Amino acid sequence: MTTASSADHPTRRDFLFVATGAAAAVGGAAALWPFISQMNPDASTIAAGAPIEVDLSPVAEGQDIKVFWRGKPIYISHRTKKQIDEARAVNVASLPDPQTDEARVKSGHEQWLVVIGICTHLGCIPIAHEGNYDGFFCPCHGSQYDSSGRIRQGPAPANLPVPPYQFVSDTKIQIG
Ligand code: FES
Repeated sequence: MTTASSADHPTRRDFLFVATGAAAAVGGAAALWPFISQMNPDASTIAAGAPIEVDLSPVAEGQDIKVFWRGKPIYISHRTKKQIDEARAVNVASLPDPQTDEARVKSGHEQWLVVIGICTHLGCIPIAHEGNYDGFFCPCHGSQYDSSGRIRQGPAPANLPVPPYQFVSDTKIQIG
């Protein structure tokens, strides 16, 4: 009876093992992204919509990071000169959702692109640094976004949205 009872009701020790395993799994996933130091409100406040600050100093040129704001993935790309030049050389009138690169980044901080990483077709999460335009590729139905996050090819009808954000210093932004 005792054996059956403990199998049905995991002991505190069992719980600790489970909790340790879960923490290790989360730690492993987090290690896939560059470590970003943030001084932010607690998780419930952020989930409710509080602004978040992101330190950009660890993000090398050519690298992208992903953070979460209001439960949405936000891509922050430290663009190379080549990516910026490509984005600005495009005939804007030829784009499905015409918008200049200048209108999608902050003046004086052109190397930084900040976009909501949700495909405007049916909501998949595009992959950074993939596709034909040195930007983002959505694996669900093949939409391709350029290095300014603008839709260039595929079924998505609109550019990746730019969330509200501002630079609070040369190396730190506040999103929201
Ligand atoms: S959801 Fe991205 S192409 Fe369909």
